[in-house]
Amino acid sequence: MRILTGLQPSGKLHVGNFFGAMEPAVKLQEQGDAFYFIANYHAMTTVRNPDDLRAYTRELAVDFLACGLDPSRSVFFRQSDVPEVNELAWILSTVCPVSLLEKCHSYKDKTAKGFTPNHGLFAYPVLMAADILLYDANQVPVGKDQKQHLEVTRDLAGKINEAYGEDTLVVPEPIIRESVAVVPGLDGQKMSKSYGNTLPLFGEEKPSKKLIMKIKTDSTPVEEPKAIDDSLVLPLFRLFADDASYEEMLSQHESGGVGYGDFKKRLAEAYWDYFAPMRARRAELEADPGYIDQVLSQGAEKARSTASVTLDRVRKAVGIV
Ligand code: TYM
Repeated sequence: MRILTGLQPSGKLHVGNFFGAMEPAVKLQEQGDAFYFIANYHAMTTVRNPDDLRAYTRELAVDFLACGLDPSRSVFFRQSDVPEVNELAWILSTVCPVSLLEKCHSYKDKTAKGFTPNHGLFAYPVLMAADILLYDANQVPVGKDQKQHLEVTRDLAGKINEAYGEDTLVVPEPIIRESVAVVPGLDGQKMSKSYGNTLPLFGEEKPSKKLIMKIKTDSTPVEEPKAIDDSLVLPLFRLFADDASYEEMLSQHESGGVGYGDFKKRLAEAYWDYFAPMRARRAELEADPGYIDQVLSQGAEKARSTASVTLDRVRKAVGIV
């Protein structure tokens, strides 16, 4: 079974990226043949500064390895090191109805936010489909916001198979864990770089904890019970705390007697402690840049050899020889 996922180097990674994609990806690498990559072509749709793009790409490599990606088990590479992906994207675009892309939420959201509706942004899901189909992936661990892109991928694979033969492309399945399908941000909306509501995965201690202490709460006095359903603290605490600590906070919401400041302090501590081992691993990796280069170049080589087999098969099927 082949497992694949990608993350964009479009800024600092956050807790939503971790629980939605990175943690399941790390777990799944024990169950199959994993391909994980840095989607730097995709990030070009929003990052315009080349130095930033290079720096984010590097940071993402260090972050993912620090979180447990094991290069002796998984193939880890930069999207741009396998230029074959662009050829497959072109082939897929020839069967992709414009109306399918017009329906995509991420395109509609980005243009509503003022991003120029350029072709890259529009065709983003076609390149993403190529990322997945090029490696014959069966399972794709992602957050819920990528579900529609996975549907486009399945649709395009189906169209190619219908036109050129059932065995041309493998139709993948999304893996979306319900409990962390949408990790909430510090304001209760989906945690997202573009909403400015993120909790960084590897931020500095004081500023990160300060972000938590600034979470908005209502004016319920300390002694009174607190609302559970609209709490912004509880769903985040649940991600980092053990069951007993979570149950304790929940019952203290119900009984009253504990203030929001106290809950937030506990959240800040739990968040900081949760990532402590990964932070330590990250510091080691940062001190060894040669290792990161070596991992990515070996990954690129393996990814390219897999990609070329799929692309040959597709080229033959469609009549490009
Ligand atoms: P990106 O870089 O925006 O996000 C990376 C992963 O993090 C997940 N995620 C979340 N999960 C739960 N709650 C949240 N608040 C949250 N925010 C982000 C995303 O769902 C994603 O899984 N298009 C992709 C990158 C990509 C890709 C691919 C993914 C390119 N090609 C092929 C899989 C397969 C993206 O923008 O992810």
